Amino acid sequence: MTTTRATTRVLTGITTTGTPHLGNYVGAIRPTVQASRQAGTESFLFLANYHALIKCDDPARVQRSTLEIAACWLAAGLDPQQVTFYRQSDIPEIPELCWLLTCVTGKGLLNRAHAYKAAQDKNAAAGREADDGVTAGLFMYPVLMGADILMFGAHRVPVGRDQVQHIEMARDMAASFNHLYGGGRELFTLPEAQVDEHVALLPGLDGRKMSKSYDNTIPLFAPREQLRKLIMGIVTDSRAPGEPKETEGSALFAIYRAFATPEESAAFAQDFAQGIAWGEAKQRLFERIDAEIAPMRERYQHLMTHPGEVEAILQAGAAKARAAATPFMHTLRRAVGLASLDGAAAAATRAAAAAPGEALPQFKQYREPDGQFYFKLTSGARVLLQSRGFASPRDAGQAVKRLQTEGAAALPALQDVLEPPADAQALAQALARLAAASD
Ligand code: TRP
Repeated sequence: MTTTRATTRVLTGITTTGTPHLGNYVGAIRPTVQASRQAGTESFLFLANYHALIKCDDPARVQRSTLEIAACWLAAGLDPQQVTFYRQSDIPEIPELCWLLTCVTGKGLLNRAHAYKAAQDKNAAAGREADDGVTAGLFMYPVLMGADILMFGAHRVPVGRDQVQHIEMARDMAASFNHLYGGGRELFTLPEAQVDEHVALLPGLDGRKMSKSYDNTIPLFAPREQLRKLIMGIVTDSRAPGEPKETEGSALFAIYRAFATPEESAAFAQDFAQGIAWGEAKQRLFERIDAEIAPMRERYQHLMTHPGEVEAILQAGAAKARAAATPFMHTLRRAVGLASLDGAAAAATRAAAAAPGEALPQFKQYREPDGQFYFKLTSGARVLLQSRGFASPRDAGQAVKRLQTEGAAALPALQDVLEPPADAQALAQALARLAAASD
């Protein structure tokens, strides 16, 4: 089946166990926010709080981290109108899908997952039993991640190297499921990992990679004075003022470069060569970072003290995400044989079987007096789906084509050009019927 793809769906999740630091900002937040503004992509970004439970049993920390991470992303310029920004636990379809995937995932595949194997290796090294302290949650982690990704038909998943294996596993799950239940349809889109090789790895206070596990981080939105203090604590060598200094291997310089323009970095490198004092270099670094961070910090502080605003944004995001997840889950339930016995679904199936000539739901394209092009999906007199206005008939036609070929799986990508469906179940059934009829 070939589809003309108008947009690329990009999805990523952030586990809610920590406080974002400068390394997260440079390595993930800043590039992701920038990418989310690109035309032709559609971003799904979520707070992976079910994942947090795998590695953290401190409720206060998970709760606090959820607010901090949400506030950080919003402060850093993520536009919740433009992207779908939600909290994993607000989407009950995700754990539901997780179970369906669990049933098509080989246990042997999960045995090979790096995170699980690392836990086993650690136990072996300490002379403990292989599965000592390993929860089933850790073992199942790749399946939950598969559900996150496959639920929204993501094409691309930007992740760190350590996560690539999980994306490959999600592909395996998708392929197995399509094969078993798709009946020729691609129920799931096969995702691809996107590892950005150029993204700066920021050194931390001690010169090693900035990471929570090394306890060498600089919190992204530390208050100004604290930020200054932390920066003054970055390790340097013992060269005196006036002595030329190396930029190579200097944590201070590497951090500066991650925030500055190439010209500013070149000027800073000159100052190194001319023997700038470390104290002054640190002050310069502080000023440069603060210039970028200060306006965002203000917004961050506001959100942290108005958690209701963050909650409202996440609720709106969840509604947007569920407008796609609910009908899609419905299609999946039907595919595996979990549909209602006496509901409309069964009736539709029977009707389709008993009366193959019965009118199928229909797409209708038309133009309104506003000059824009619209389409709707109708079943008899009922309008199951109504589009918003398109500038060209071609765009409207492409959206129709996607719904015809991809079925409910295309809904997430199209949510901005569709009115929210009044009856998501009926819509999913209609799309499933059309797909079945076109097979
Ligand atoms: N496991 C990812 C991490 O630790 C976070 C995550 C959860 C994720 N679900 C995802 C990333 C889905 C991408 C897609 O970084």
